[in-house]
Amino acid sequence: MASKFAIPEDPDREYFFTAKGLESRRVLRGSEAKKTFSEIPTIDISSIVSQDLSDRVKLAEQIGRAATDVGFMYLTNLPIDSRVMDNAFEALKKFFALPLEEKKKVVSTKSWTIKGWQPIMNEEGDMSNETFRMGNDYTEPEQEDPDYIVEKARTFNQWPDALPEFREALYKYWNALVIFTKKLQGIFALALGLEESALDHLFKRPLMDITIQHYCQGKVKPGLGAHADFGAFTCLLQHEVGGLEVLNANAEWVQVPVKKHTFVVNTGSYFEHLSNGRWMSTIHRVRAEGDVDRYSLPFFYGFDPTAVVEPLLLEPNEEPKYENVNIGIENVKGTFYEMNEEHPFMQMINKKGINLEDMRYDQVLRGVEV
Ligand SMILES: [Fe+2]
Repeated sequence: MASKFAIPEDPDREYFFTAKGLESRRVLRGSEAKKTFSEIPTIDISSIVSQDLSDRVKLAEQIGRAATDVGFMYLTNLPIDSRVMDNAFEALKKFFALPLEEKKKVVSTKSWTIKGWQPIMNEEGDMSNETFRMGNDYTEPEQEDPDYIVEKARTFNQWPDALPEFREALYKYWNALVIFTKKLQGIFALALGLEESALDHLFKRPLMDITIQHYCQGKVKPGLGAHADFGAFTCLLQHEVGGLEVLNANAEWVQVPVKKHTFVVNTGSYFEHLSNGRWMSTIHRVRAEGDVDRYSLPFFYGFDPTAVVEPLLLEPNEEPKYENVNIGIENVKGTFYEMNEEHPFMQMINKKGINLEDMRYDQVLRGVEV
C-alpha cells in the first residue's frame, strides 16, 4: 500500500509537503530561469536591543527584504551568551548517548503533546534519526508565570533522571530564546510596516517548541524530507555539521552551511497567511548522508493558541488569498497527525469515538474529560 508520504519520481520536478499536502515545483533552467536567490542573506542582529526605535526600524527593513525575497536569513551577533548555546549542544549529545533503556523512559508516546524522545527508523529497521522535544508546559517551575495559572494543567515535558544537567542546559537555552523571539516578533511587525506592538495580541502566550534532531552516522537515508514550516518563525542553531538546503524559485537547492553561534531564521506558513503571501514559507530539507553524526537545535515560535490568523495589510481591492486559521485547532490537528494509530492517546480517542476535528486545544492542555 502506498504510504501517505509517497513521492512521485520525476526528474523535472521537486516535491515537498506544505499545509496543503504534497506539492511540486518544476525545475527551471536556461531562458526559463527566474530571478531568484542563490544564497542566504546574513543580517547583523545586534541592534535588536537598541533603545533607539530608528535602529530597530533599519534592522526591520533588512529583515523584511530577506523575508520577502528568500524566506530564510542568517542572524549574526546574537544577544545570547554563546556558552549557553555550546552548553546546550554538550548536554544534548550526552542525552542521545544515554543507553536506550534510559531514553525509553522518556519516550514521546507518554506525552499528550509528544514531548520527549522519539526514535525514527529507516526501511532497514535501523534508527536513522532520533529527536527530543520540549515545549510549553505549565506544570514546570521553569515556566511558572504568576499572571497565568492553568487549572488542572497536564504535564507534557519529560526529562531523563539520569542526566539532570540536560534539563538545566536546555532550559537556559529556552529562557534565552523566549526573550529573543519576543523581540524578534516585534521586529517582524515593523518589517511588515506595522507598529512594533501591532501583533502582540496574537502572541500573548505563544506556542513554542524545541525539537532537537540527531541524524545518526552512517545510516541509510538520514535526513528530513522537503517541507514548509508551520508556525510563525523558526530559529535554528546548526552545529559543526551542516546539511540544510533551501529551495529557490527555479527549484534549485541552495546550501545553508553552518555558521557558528548564528541563527538560521525562516518564516512559517502562518506568517505567509498573515502577510497574504508576501512572505512565503520557503521549502527546505536536510541532507545528512555524511559519515558523521549531525545535531541541530531548532526553536519554533508560534502564535497564541487562542489566536485567529487572517490576512492583514490588504491593499484596496486586494483579495485575501488565505482562509482564516484558528491556531488552537490547527495545533491539535498537527499534534495528532504525528501520532500513529498505536499511540495511547489516539487509541483512547478512537475508543471514545471522538472526531479529531472536534478536539480543542483546551482539552489537550488541561486534564479535562475528552
Ligand atoms: Fe523545517
